[in-house]
Amino acid sequence: MALRKLVAGNWKMNGSLAALAELDAIAAAAAAHPGLDVAICPPFPLIQAAVQRQPALAIGAQDCHTGTSGAHTGDVAAALIADVGGRYAIVGHSERRADHGEDDALVRAKAEAAIAAGLVAIVCVGETEAERDAGRAVAVVEGQLDGSVPPAGTGATLVVAYEPVWAIGTGRTPSAGDVGEMHGAIRARLQTLLGGEGAKVRILYGGSVKPANAAELMAVADVDGALVGGASLTAEQFVPIIAGAA
Ligand code: G3P
Repeated sequence: MALRKLVAGNWKMNGSLAALAELDAIAAAAAAHPGLDVAICPPFPLIQAAVQRQPALAIGAQDCHTGTSGAHTGDVAAALIADVGGRYAIVGHSERRADHGEDDALVRAKAEAAIAAGLVAIVCVGETEAERDAGRAVAVVEGQLDGSVPPAGTGATLVVAYEPVWAIGTGRTPSAGDVGEMHGAIRARLQTLLGGEGAKVRILYGGSVKPANAAELMAVADVDGALVGGASLTAEQFVPIIAGAA
């Protein structure tokens, strides 16, 4: 079943108010390709300004807390992200798993909090280079899915992003064959975990997606879009990726 594709940009710890000017051409490209969804996830302080600048463009966050409010200095509740107009929350990115020790149980709780607040949760999974070299890539990702996918997730509330850690920001990507094998395994696991809804959850590929490789990667079976880091920071790079996915 071909699912509606999603091309999401993760700005990570980049951007500025001035950089939101890039959203104008990105929003125009999104409007020119109504057959797919486009989103940008800037740092928290830019979310509201991004929504105000381009209200038709979906804006999201890169994380959220598990709770709804309270004494959690520096954290941000999913409900607040929704309150300022956010529509997505990336959770469990490998940089957060590594930098902040986030484990599967925490990632699942964050995804559940995001969904409860009305956001679409983008749950990230992916193996390290050592795990791939040891022939354990699929097993590692299946384990991450088992631990971090919310059991009540649906095609409307949940997206999974497969991001091999060794492909992030390196310019290296898996072969189309390896991407297809992994996305097929993720699809099968999602169907085991979520039943019929598992067939409707979009599976994004992330890791060094560029204008030059977007169309080839997006054509692989069970690749339902992309999660793009560096190449989402400028319209010059991101707009051709949107076109490549369409
Ligand atoms: O979340 C997107 C990301 O980790 C991929 O980053 O810069 O390799 O596209 P990049």
